This record gives sequence, structure tokens and C-alpha cells, in this order.
Amino acid sequence: MNFIVFLGAPGSGKGTQAQMLASEYNLEHISTGQLIRDEIKESTEFGFRLERECLSGNLISTEDIFNLLGKKIKELSIDRQVILDGFPRTLDQAKLLKDFTEKTGNQLEKVVCFDIAGEALIERLTGRFMCADCGAVYHKHHNSPQQDGVCDFCGSENFQVRPDDAEEVVKKRLDVFHEETKPLVSYYDAQGVLFRLDATQSVESIKKTLLKNIKLVAAE
Ligand code: AP5
Ligand code: MG
Repeated sequence: MNFIVFLGAPGSGKGTQAQMLASEYNLEHISTGQLIRDEIKESTEFGFRLERECLSGNLISTEDIFNLLGKKIKELSIDRQVILDGFPRTLDQAKLLKDFTEKTGNQLEKVVCFDIAGEALIERLTGRFMCADCGAVYHKHHNSPQQDGVCDFCGSENFQVRPDDAEEVVKKRLDVFHEETKPLVSYYDAQGVLFRLDATQSVESIKKTLLKNIKLVAAE
């Protein structure tokens, strides 16, 4: 398995790009945030706990994340290229990923850092809505479904707003990103795998930049 990590602040566009590339090039896309939201939908005790933690704007524990991710990775075939969207996001998680790739002979190919700051992120998150069935993300001004009211990816007509996109939760998530996730930029830069992307550009132009700078191997 070859991993490409998408690293960036809440709202920087990780999920938007990952879902497009995964669907057009038949790559695996694992969003740890989406794994959590899927667990919350199951209405289990574990799901209720995750929901409370997400609504606080904090990260959930590395142990919980690794369990969810481990289960998902076991389902994948070993020759796949996998976009990890939102993992790792602490130095501890990055070290766990390093141990995992070294032990299993998998490779961390590239870490793409989505650079964008400030007010733009709040505007993106407070205008976001998503497909209630497959989790595809849209924006009321910049990124609507091609056919009004119908998800481009799964055809569902059910949409919702993420409860953790309320403005006060967004502010906390941004603080947590600066404190806990930002240090990963220099960590991966030092390893020579970092690619910095100007994430203020349009969805289409970011996609073009990604296609130029990461080697995608479409699965059969
Ligand atoms: P997660 O779901 O991963 O949230 P996040 O990292 O905060 O990032 P977002 O999904 O909010 O933003 P995005 O970068 O994907 O942007 P998007 O493409 O949607 O995690 C949720 C929570 O789960 C965390 O807060 C944490 O509690 C927990 N969690 C997850 N992973 C964890 C981990 N590893 N460890 C511990 N806890 C973890 O775009 C945003 C909006 O902008 C959309 O409306 C989109 O349409 C629009 N947009 C996108 N690109 C553009 C563009 N180029 N121009 C204009 N608009 C754009
Ligand atoms: Mg996302």
C-alpha cells in the first residue's frame, strides 16, 4: 500500500480533493473524520462518545482513531494507493504511521500540505453542506452539485450540515489544528516528503496542481 497524506486545517479542502481523485482515479480515500461520522450514525455507546468529543472541537484519542483506521485498512487490498485525509494529525499519530509502514513494508509516498489561513476557512466551513449518505462535501457558493439537490457521487437527495461546523466549534478546531497538527509540517519537511499546495486557489486549479505533483496509479 502506498499512502498519500492530505494535511491541512479544517476547511482547507482535503476532503473535496480526495473525493474527486478517488472517484476519478479509483483510489482509496480514507477520511478519519468520515470514519467517526459513520460510527456516530450507528448510535452505539462508542458513537455517542465520539460525537461528544467531536462537538467539543477537540481531537479524539489516538487509540480510538487507530482502532477505526486499523479496521478500515484491513479491508483494503495491499496493492492500493490510499489517500489518508485527516490522519495523522499529531506527532504521536505520525510516529504510529511510520512504525506501521516500516513493519508492513508499506510506503508513505507524499504528504500534501493544504496552505490556507484565516477568515477564508470560516467562510468555507459555515457554507459547507454534505451528502447525508456518502459524505461528499459541497459549498453553497463555491461548489454545488452539478444537478441541484442531487449528490454527484451517489445520487442521494439527502443533504445535511455538519454539527461541528457551528462557528464556535470551528474556532476551537482551528486552535487545535495550530497547536497539535501544524508541527507535522516541519516533521514531514525534514523527511523530504512534503509538498506545499496553495489551497486558496479554485477547486479545479488545485486538482490540476495535485495531478502534476503526485504520481497517481489508477487501480484496475
Ligand atoms: P474531519 O472530518 O477530518 O474535519 P477537519 O480536518 O476539521 O477537516 P474538514 O473536513 O472540516 O475540512 P476539509 O479540509 O476536508 O475541507 P472540505 O474539502 O470539506 O474531522 C472531524 C473531527 O474528527 C475532528 O475535529 C476531530 O475531532 C476528529 N478527527 C478526525 N481525524 C482525527 C485524527 N486523526 N485524530 C483525532 N481526531 C480526529 O472543504 C470545506 C468547504 O470548502 C466545503 O464546503 C467545500 O465545498 C469548500 N471548498 C473546498 N475546496 C475549495 C476551494 N478550493 N475553493 C472554494 N471552496 C472550497
Ligand atoms: Mg474533510
